[in-house]
Formats: sequence, structure tokens, C-alpha cells
Amino acid sequence: MTTKNDAPLLCGKNVTRVFQGGRNQKTIAVDNVDFAFRRGEIVSIVGESGSGKTTLAKIILGLLSQSSGELLYKGIPRDISTHRLRRQYWRDVQAIFQDPFSSFNIFNRVESVLLDCIRLLGGGALPKEEKAERMREACSFVNLPFDEIAGKYPFELSGGQMLRLMIARIFMLRPNLLIADEPTSMIDACSRATILEMLLKLREETGMTVVFITHDIGLAYHISDQVLCSPRSSRSLTSSLTKRPLRR
Ligand SMILES: Nc1ncnc2c1ncn2[C@@H]1O[C@H](COP(=O)(O)OP(=O)(O)O)[C@@H](O)[C@H]1O
Ligand SMILES: [Mg+2]
Repeated sequence: MTTKNDAPLLCGKNVTRVFQGGRNQKTIAVDNVDFAFRRGEIVSIVGESGSGKTTLAKIILGLLSQSSGELLYKGIPRDISTHRLRRQYWRDVQAIFQDPFSSFNIFNRVESVLLDCIRLLGGGALPKEEKAERMREACSFVNLPFDEIAGKYPFELSGGQMLRLMIARIFMLRPNLLIADEPTSMIDACSRATILEMLLKLREETGMTVVFITHDIGLAYHISDQVLCSPRSSRSLTSSLTKRPLRR
């Protein structure tokens, strides 16, 4: 794939998503949003509940299509029209969602969640010991005891452990872009700080771009290079997003 190296990692131009309900009802969940995420930067998207943050996250991930507008990945129009192109895109762009339990197939053990990552990276044929070593390393980054949890099912883990397992996946996959959609809203304040530290450390190590979706505007300003807000007057994210570079 040809790309332009000096271009932002991901750009959105006039991205809009309309949901059609029954009886001509429609919801404009994302309304004409423009954005540009540069390489290695932390961007926060702040907006009240229902303002279209998760919808935008899903469009960025390619799990939902936009009704209109365009996405540019590495400077060229994003193409995820085939299975192969989607797989390639998902190696680069990954997410951690609000409800960690909804992100996994509940019939998959912890070990198979991590083995999937190895396979996605093309390591399916590696010797068993080498695979275990990689999984152990990823778990140790997030302080999870791999040998204890490898055979467990997602519902046997606590919310905090599940989140850490998701971060272990990100540690293995090393995407260019991570979208973290209110990842810490389900856990206590103490674990929240630890999770945030892990994400920031991972960003430091990998240079990935992190898009952090949150309610917490104070936190957003504290950690971000760029903050996108939905205006008070509107219920959807719009192009009047105030883009305020953080004073460090
Ligand atoms: N699949 C869907 N079908 C219909 N409406 C939806 C769907 N997903 C989200 N919406 C609506 O779009 C709006 C934005 O939702 P969402 O993106 O989840 O907001 P946020 O993440 O900011 O809380 C809401 O009004 C929601 O009800
Ligand atoms: Mg949401």
C-alpha cells in the first residue's frame, strides 16, 4: 500500500452517521465531524452520554460505516472493502471498549484470546514454548499471572483483570492507533489510575497514537496533546469541536 509519511495517521472529513429508527425517526449520532490524529499523539474525545463518541469510535475501527464523509488513513482514502484489507487495518487500529466483557467471546479462554493475537501477527506456526513466552511477557506487562489465568474464561476474571487482559492484547499487537472508549468507567478509582499508567507507558514504548474517549475533562486535559469536545448546545459531536492544544 502506498502511503504518505508526513500525513496525519488518521483523518476524518465531514464524517456523519445517521441511524434510521422506525416511523421516519432518525438520529444524527455523528454530525459532520472533522479530525486529524497525528502519529504518537494522545487525543481525547470528551462529550456527554449519547453525543456519538462510541459511534465515531466504531466508524474509525471500521465496525460501522459512515453515512457520509471520508476517512484518510496515512494520507490516502481508507479502504477496508475486502476481508484481507480489513485484517490488515485491524493489525494497525485496535480498541479497548467500555464494557470489557462485551469484547470477548465468553466461550474463549484467556489463552485463546492471546493466541489469536499471535496468529494475527503471523506467528501461528511458532513453537508452543515460544508462544507461551510471548503470552507470559504480555501478561507480565499488565501484572497478570499468566499461568494462573490462562485456562480461565472471561467471566471468571474481575473487571480490572479483563481490562488488563485487553491491554496485554494491545501490548502484543502494538497497533499504530488505539481507541480506548471510556475504558475505566467500570472499575474503581485505584485500578483506574493503574490502567491509565499502563496505557501511557505502552504509548511511550510503542509510539502509538491513543484516542481516549472519556467523560472526565480534567483528565483529558491532563494527559492529551489534543482535546475534541462536543459543544454544550449540541447533542452530537460536530465540526465545531474545539480543538485546543494542551499547554504542557
Ligand atoms: N445501532 C444504533 N441504532 C440506532 N441508534 C443508535 C445506535 N447506536 C447508537 N445510537 C444512537 O446514537 C446516539 C449516539 O450514541 P453513542 O455513540 O453510543 O453515544 P456515546 O458513546 O457518546 O454515549 C444515541 O442517541 C444512540 O441512541
Ligand atoms: Mg459510548
